[in-house]
Amino acid sequence: MSDEQIDVLLFGLGAIGSFYSFILSRSNRVRLSVVARSNYDAVKSRVCLLPRCIVPGYTELADDEYVQGFIIDSQNHGRHTVTPFKVVRTPAEANQTYDYVVCAHKAIDQEAAVAQLAPVIDQDRTTIVLIQNGVGNEEPFRKAYPRSTIITCVTWTGATQVEPGLVQHTKSENMQIGLFPNDSADQSVEHSRLDTFASLLTAGGTVFQAIDDIQRQRWEKVVWNAAWNSLTTLTLLDTRSWLDSSPEAMPITRRLMHEVIAVGRACGVSTLDDDIVDKLINRILGMPGIGSSMQTDYKEGRPLEVDAILGYPFRKSKELGLSTPTLDTIYAIVMGVDRRWVCPLNLVIIEWIEKCTISDTRPSW
Ligand SMILES: NC(=O)c1ccc[n+]([C@@H]2O[C@H](COP(=O)([O-])OP(=O)(O)OC[C@H]3O[C@@H](n4cnc5c(N)ncnc54)[C@H](OP(=O)(O)O)[C@@H]3O)[C@@H](O)[C@H]2O)c1
Repeated sequence: MSDEQIDVLLFGLGAIGSFYSFILSRSNRVRLSVVARSNYDAVKSRVCLLPRCIVPGYTELADDEYVQGFIIDSQNHGRHTVTPFKVVRTPAEANQTYDYVVCAHKAIDQEAAVAQLAPVIDQDRTTIVLIQNGVGNEEPFRKAYPRSTIITCVTWTGATQVEPGLVQHTKSENMQIGLFPNDSADQSVEHSRLDTFASLLTAGGTVFQAIDDIQRQRWEKVVWNAAWNSLTTLTLLDTRSWLDSSPEAMPITRRLMHEVIAVGRACGVSTLDDDIVDKLINRILGMPGIGSSMQTDYKEGRPLEVDAILGYPFRKSKELGLSTPTLDTIYAIVMGVDRRWVCPLNLVIIEWIEKCTISDTRPSW
């Protein structure tokens, strides 16, 4: 496949989807299509090639100053406009199958996403790539497309879509990739598809590692997310302020992390050890206080990635007869919080909280 054109579909063109679309588009072998949802009009109609298009008040542009696509503004890679081959609202609209379908949507209602992707997947050709937080994300894909190769990725890249079609990327950039095992598949095909995807990331100039023990990485990231996403969302504090809020905060955080690690180990990830807790605590203490994507989703009234981050570990804990009281409690409360949108009054309260907040991560009270 080395010189052949590779058809890639990016599903979930938000912050991470746009960043990795940009990376993949840098290989001249890739023909990139994207499924855009709320940002469809911005990406499909035309955005400006020139930086001045985002200067407030600027309205008039000459025709040759526009191009279809989206903008990546990266502290590592500079500012680029990406012009996909196809921009579609739904996978069905693409009207073709793909070599790689890269999923970077929020891990919310994974079953619905799996069903939507049916028209673009040819199980004997298509490799599914998942770039999402959470654990258990691969299972609905394996169930629906048992012959497809699945590459599962853990990203530590930091990006935000600041307006439709404009994504800012910080200096954080790293990803681990690996195969989700399929014992009934031809292993040489599985590995060559992984190698091809790795070669595209290399051509795109991003930082990543291909590793065998990818589930260990997924669980390590979920230990991080289970703690910081949940606790910053429930308290509306940044990580520092939470840890400083009472003498109980640190032990509760550590207990939650240890319980998620115990579930991961019981699920067969034997390399997941308790030292991760110290490592992750030291990492957060070395950073300024941060919020989390779940906290941002909460404030913006969007559904939370509660199932992939807490729900799967919780269910596995029950199935395996483990005792995880902190995880159980936090999961139940975050589930309740996730249902806030059923009561419109809650959204009014959230809006009011937003108005009283100095920044995303540092509430004024
Ligand atoms: N951003 C980061 O710095 C970061 C870092 C590490 C990991 N992650 C993980 O990366 C994944 C993507 O996050 P993100 O920050 O890129 O999110 P995002 O900016 O909110 O983008 C998500 C994109 O997927 C679409 N989408 C959301 N839910 C969907 C669904 N159920 N089905 C189909 N499309 C859906 C959204 O469309 P709409 O705009 O229409 O909602 C949006 O285009 C998440 O699992 C996140 O936890 C993010």
